[in-house]
Amino acid sequence: MYYKKLKPFPKGFLWGASTSAYQVEGAWDEDGKGPSVMDTNKHSDKTTDFKITSDHYHHYKEDIALLAEMGFKAYRFSIAWTRIFPQGTGEINQKGIDFYNDLINEVIKYNMEPIVTVYHFDLPYALHEKGGWSNRATIDAFVQYVELLFESYGDRIKYWLTINEQNMMILHGSAIGIFDANAKDIEKELYQQNHHMLLAQAQVMKLCHEMCPDAKIGPAPNISAIYPATSKPEDVLAANNWTSIRNWLYLDMAVFGRYNSVAWSYLEEKGYAPIIQAGDMEILSGTKPDFIAFNYYNTGTVAASKNDASDRGGTGDQQIVVGEIGVYRGATNPNLGQTAFGWGIDPVGFRNTLRELNDRYNLPLLLTENGLGAYDKLEEGDVVNDDYRIDFLRKHIEQAQLAITDGVKLIGYCPWSAIDLVSTHSGCSKRYGFIYVNREEFDLKDLRRIKKNSFYWYKKIIANNGEDLS
Ligand code: BG6
Repeated sequence: MYYKKLKPFPKGFLWGASTSAYQVEGAWDEDGKGPSVMDTNKHSDKTTDFKITSDHYHHYKEDIALLAEMGFKAYRFSIAWTRIFPQGTGEINQKGIDFYNDLINEVIKYNMEPIVTVYHFDLPYALHEKGGWSNRATIDAFVQYVELLFESYGDRIKYWLTINEQNMMILHGSAIGIFDANAKDIEKELYQQNHHMLLAQAQVMKLCHEMCPDAKIGPAPNISAIYPATSKPEDVLAANNWTSIRNWLYLDMAVFGRYNSVAWSYLEEKGYAPIIQAGDMEILSGTKPDFIAFNYYNTGTVAASKNDASDRGGTGDQQIVVGEIGVYRGATNPNLGQTAFGWGIDPVGFRNTLRELNDRYNLPLLLTENGLGAYDKLEEGDVVNDDYRIDFLRKHIEQAQLAITDGVKLIGYCPWSAIDLVSTHSGCSKRYGFIYVNREEFDLKDLRRIKKNSFYWYKKIIANNGEDLS
């Protein structure tokens, strides 16, 4: 639809950006922090680990000041469960509580809204050893942990996010590094874990409403509109299969408190359906999020299954579709460009995704990740000319405004990432930030912070509330 005039970004729009604890903080074993699965799991030896990353733990004041200089209205970050409960449960680490107290106060000092993810991939290793999310005791540990966060920071946090990309942990856990890439036939177990995470999420959403009535809480999955490879009805059906399994399984449960019917049929057909205990469905349907946070990088394109082994392509990741026998096949979208890391670029798909979410759930939406991973180059005179990132972000912000004009209730835009950090599986050479961190995979250099061109551009966008995107 073409509009003569676009609606402006709303007043109080949450312009900002995001990070996650294990990818940005470093200090992996300092001040009483316990190990998480991200500290202990095997990662490629061609890329750095998560021990030091951008050393934000020691640089947070400098970093927050830079975000404030960009004019951020919000900063989305995650809390490392293992700083608060080093063993996942039991003994509390006061130094961890203090660190996030200081961080939150620093963010608020500059009038930025802290948006807090309570769990971003980094499950405490001690809980993992006891079965992780397969063990229902992890649900109780999670609720106890989040209850302490509400007690400690609930007076200052207005936006809580439950679990980052639960769908990607289930669908692409090996790419993210959550489990062994060689593990076989683990889907049944994964969907049991998924059920437990959904229960844990429902319980903390309810708790938030009881303990922090002025705050809002929502899930934070990775959501992509899924396109059929052609207009063939069979391809359209395959797209519906994949969107139900990838997207709606998670959000239908969070919002409507029920398993999506196509996704459930898939789970039954494959023998992956989780065991649901008495009382589970009451917990799952007994609450609702106040908004939906979601990460959008690109869309997916799929074709009808041929119902043989060729349905399954190579290895995928969060944005590369793999395919599944008898369900759908991954396809390439010839209409899209690609990043240097093989992810499609689809700004219009962002508008499509926003519309779909709005139509389906009719809740406020908060974009918590979107961005371009690239090999940025530090040039002489501390210049990082990342015009390609500006172009990527500009096109997505344009589509956000069109979606707002369509009637979508978008309340904020927090791309990935505020500052350079370590990617899930491509090391620190895949950079996303507005601020360059001077290090390489195995050479920490001086970790100096350098403003990229996109830093200055985004500052202007925020200052004029997205009125002039040039
Ligand atoms: C999302 C995650 O999947 O995408 C982030 O929430 C991640 O943690 C981001 O870093 C970009 O992915 P990658 O694989 O390029 O780091």
